[in-house]
Amino acid sequence: MKLCMIGTGYVGLVSGVCFADLGNEVICVDKDLNKINKLRKSIIPIYEPGLDELVKKNSKSGRLKFSTNINESVQKSNIIFICVGTPTKKNKYEADLSQVYDVAKKISKNIKSFKIIINKSTVPVMTGDKVEKIISRKVKKNLFSVVSNPEFLREGEAIRDFVYPDRIVIGTSSKKSNKILKNLYSPLISKGAKYINTSRRAAELIKYASNAFLATKITFINELANLCEKLNINVEDLSIGIGTDKRIGGRFLRAGPAYGGSCFPKDTRALVDTANKSLTSLSVIKSVINSNNKRSNLLLNNISKILKNRIKNKKITFLGVTFKANTDDMRESSSLKMIPYLNKKGAKIKYYDPTGKKSEFDKLKNVQFKKNIKEACMSSDLIIIHTEWNEFKLIDLKRIVNKKKFIVYDLRNIYSPEKIKKQKIQYFGIGR
Ligand code: UGA
Repeated sequence: MKLCMIGTGYVGLVSGVCFADLGNEVICVDKDLNKINKLRKSIIPIYEPGLDELVKKNSKSGRLKFSTNINESVQKSNIIFICVGTPTKKNKYEADLSQVYDVAKKISKNIKSFKIIINKSTVPVMTGDKVEKIISRKVKKNLFSVVSNPEFLREGEAIRDFVYPDRIVIGTSSKKSNKILKNLYSPLISKGAKYINTSRRAAELIKYASNAFLATKITFINELANLCEKLNINVEDLSIGIGTDKRIGGRFLRAGPAYGGSCFPKDTRALVDTANKSLTSLSVIKSVINSNNKRSNLLLNNISKILKNRIKNKKITFLGVTFKANTDDMRESSSLKMIPYLNKKGAKIKYYDPTGKKSEFDKLKNVQFKKNIKEACMSSDLIIIHTEWNEFKLIDLKRIVNKKKFIVYDLRNIYSPEKIKKQKIQYFGIGR
């Protein structure tokens, strides 16, 4: 099939490359010429394990092309995926849909034969209705169909999530589109993915509700971790103990810092906004947002207690600063609150991240990027494990810190408290 992905951000690029790998002809479109030129040379703008090999392989085979020409790309394709960003509006909860509507207008000028237009961007309920309205101003209804097909890829695991999804959600009442899309996804369905056809509005809500539910699970376990700390219970025992009940499920019950990234914070806010507009209160999700917003302060208070309220001049190391491991994404990472706060209180901070230096901390005096774990940890008073990269899991801390007394605050519970305490290192984890 001939596909066109508009927007080569995370969703568009990963899905486009994976669709090409399944044998489709794919054009990935972006208005950013610089990005497109780099992609043409197989230079990838994001860190995603395995993506560069797939880009190279499929570009070489001719199935994957990159372009800045939206008109030509739409004309050449049968299925058009809208994959542009839907960030939160400044100082609001509402999603900014201007890019989606802009693209819809451009698509509407290029439809001469039947095309399926798919919203893959995460969009509030009824955005599909609006996109359909925009296109129908220029195009006869029988020449197009607007479908919602949300994506459930996780950064860092995106290729595996694309190839082995739990489910594929197609929101459309058009039998013709449903048949074509079931065929497009047939290689994944035959590997076990559940194909779910719903109304367009339901598909849009499924996406937000999925992210909100996962964010709720994380917040739930984070709050219980606070209680575990008071009662001397290991939260990991709790996660296993409740997670083995199939009705609850064991995943997304890892206690840690505030959840972050480009999706959970933005999508929970947008869902509350949608509900407010429909005069419905989503009190559970509102308190999830509230609890998560407070979580970094709570951890900072813990740090203060651990350091006996003496943060000034303390040497603090952050291992990992992105919002989670296996990504270079800093969006809504809890380190963005924690590092500036500690810096303001007079701490001397060194950080190491496997994805390199972060411009977000450039302007902070006494915050330094170090190019390896050893340099970052040397003579530190407090080492904060902020993200769960594999390379942090077996560090010989005693040797590399090279100091008699230091503290480890393991925000991801990657170390065994028993083993680390045997080495006479003062250790704190989350909920244990
Ligand atoms: C999330 C969803 O998991 C994807 O299904 C969805 O497609 C994506 O958002 C999106 O809407 O595009 P992502 O943001 O890449 O994916 O990352 P996650 O692995 O879900 O992690 C999100 C945050 O939750 C991170 O800060 C992570 O550290 C935290 N987390 C996750 C926990 O604190 N504990 C857990 O057990 C799991």
